[in-house]
Amino acid sequence: MGYAEVMAAAGADPEGFWLEAARGLDWDRFPAAAHDAASDRWFPDGMLNTCYNAVDRHVAAGRGDAPALIYESPITGRAAQYSFAELQDHVARTAGMIAATGVGKGDRVVIYMPMVPEAVFAMLACARIGAVHSVVFGGFAAPELAKRIDDCQPALVMSASCGFEPGRTIAYKPLLDEALHIAHHKPAAAIILQREELRADMVAGRDIDWAEAVAAAAPAACVSVAASDPLYILYTSGTTGVPKGVVRDNGGHATVLHWSMDTIYGVEPGDTYWAASDIGWVVGHSYIVYGPLLKGCATIVFEGKPVGTPDAGIFWRLVDRHAVKVLFTAPTAIRAIRRADPDGAFIDEASLASLQALFLAGERADPDTLLWIAGKLDRPVIDHWWQTELGWPAIATCFGLGETGIRAGSAGHAVPGYRFKVKGDDGGDLAPGTVGNLLIEQPLPPGAFRQLWNNPERFAAGFVDFPGHYTTGDAGMIDADGFIHIMGRTDDIINVAGHRLSTGQMEEVVANHPQVVECAVIGAADELKGEMPVAFVVTRPGCEALDDLRRELVASIRGDIGPIASPRTIHVVDGLPKTRSGKILRNLLRDIVNGANIVVPQTIEDPGVIAAISELAAPQPAA
Ligand code: COA
Ligand code: AMP
Repeated sequence: MGYAEVMAAAGADPEGFWLEAARGLDWDRFPAAAHDAASDRWFPDGMLNTCYNAVDRHVAAGRGDAPALIYESPITGRAAQYSFAELQDHVARTAGMIAATGVGKGDRVVIYMPMVPEAVFAMLACARIGAVHSVVFGGFAAPELAKRIDDCQPALVMSASCGFEPGRTIAYKPLLDEALHIAHHKPAAAIILQREELRADMVAGRDIDWAEAVAAAAPAACVSVAASDPLYILYTSGTTGVPKGVVRDNGGHATVLHWSMDTIYGVEPGDTYWAASDIGWVVGHSYIVYGPLLKGCATIVFEGKPVGTPDAGIFWRLVDRHAVKVLFTAPTAIRAIRRADPDGAFIDEASLASLQALFLAGERADPDTLLWIAGKLDRPVIDHWWQTELGWPAIATCFGLGETGIRAGSAGHAVPGYRFKVKGDDGGDLAPGTVGNLLIEQPLPPGAFRQLWNNPERFAAGFVDFPGHYTTGDAGMIDADGFIHIMGRTDDIINVAGHRLSTGQMEEVVANHPQVVECAVIGAADELKGEMPVAFVVTRPGCEALDDLRRELVASIRGDIGPIASPRTIHVVDGLPKTRSGKILRNLLRDIVNGANIVVPQTIEDPGVIAAISELAAPQPAA
């Protein structure tokens, strides 16, 4: 069946459609029904184990020798490959090690690790014993890690002594120690992977050496869990400083990820699929770890960057080395590659014979970048859109269903299972081609979130503005041919190099400085990273050491949130543009910084500040 038929089938009979998709997995108890409307749960009475489906069943089916996990670390010069049988062994022993600390079904385990195979073993090991993992991206600073620890109250944390960024070693363990010091919740144990490049000091009575413990551990078996039991919690930025703990279930998640591998991406068991992202993000969860392994594909864990490790040719060389069929990355990675290799010389040097398509997501794929890489690769380059909340693509060109018509500037069509609407703020449907609030009709398909950890009110808030619909937080429009165009966020979330960050959270940090009276942080357009934070601050009278202030504010953001949130510029201004009711006009600030046409609202309190800010922050015309 092609895309149109599958879309129609999913719409006409979601119950039958998703039950059929669920047959792609091995269940301990196959669900009698797909969706329970009262609880809005998928496969309510199904029982399964996600790790079994991602690992063990391929071994049981005689594919134990097939490659499962490929590790490439151009920074350390290490590389390794694990077959499904080897992966099963590592995961079962890691699960035994975790269980030996007393962790069992439903307990939370925080994983704060660099991109090493052990991080994937840890995630799968949690799934194996029914524990709920919560991976925290390594680029987050200690206070952010502490917030997540306090929210999900893990029984165990798993970390490593260090990670690597180009040109520097990141000591993870002191960050973990600091987070555990700040956090009110104190997990009983921390399992630490000692890496030879920088060994960590261990805390007696709490810290456990990973290598020693795993060597002593007995392999643990898969535990059967309910389809609706949580597999993981992944924190993502909301509009406040408090991250949202998106909870993913087992059954819906495994069903849709398995289903998406051939229908969206067009891969089969035995193919190599590479999502060049990080396990700390949803892309990493879904398409470094679970999706490819559920399908029986080989996946690549890449500890490096698209450029500088050692050069802009690393992606293409690894595609050739491992016969990668589908590559998935963020547009910012392609922009970085293009900047370093504008003629695509590294691309020309590679054969790329295996590569069928490149998928992009995480931020807007600007047509210029998309068309450049499509021209260089001479293969489909497919933008697709999704969110942490959804867990898998919602708008795409379903390559595996034969869809090829790509429209640059659009993220594609609705993926089967999703029904999109665009509405105005008054709740009225908007005509094709009109930009408004991008909504998804309820019920959300399998795999999408059903709760936020510890926060039913915040979860419910995502469904109140437009009854019967999930508010994505993106503005968008659907054109006359059903292509969906994403225009940007309607809230304070920005996307910096594919990393989702909250400007509200940055404002909280900046406002904490004793010399700052008030501030606003906006996402300014950035040629490389898509967006970058730019801060406007009003200082106390007499504050004159402005360079020191700027340095301190940058240090606070890096220390409190993480280096990924470093602001591009901090403007010290006399006042912020506000409405007469006191609301800061952040959109106006963003338009000024981006050099866009400014529409000054009638309700502005003091029009004078706009001229002053424009002089300071507007892009200068080229000489
Ligand atoms: N641990 C510790 N620090 C990290 C980190 C991690 N896991 N990831 C990033 N950082 C640090 C970087 O070292 C850098 O620090 P610096 O300011 O001291 O140099 C800072 O955070 C910003 O990092 P980043 O945003 O990655 O910028 P960069 O200039 O180092 O690299 C790109 C730019 C475009 C090459 C890089 O952002 C990239 O590869 N982006 C793709 C992102 C992606 O795949 N996102 C997933 C969504 S699909
Ligand atoms: P995250 O939850 O980190 O995946 O971020 C989700 C947000 O990233 C979405 O709400 C969008 O604002 C943005 N995003 C993701 N993919 C795309 C895309 N293909 N085009 C435009 N924006 C995107």
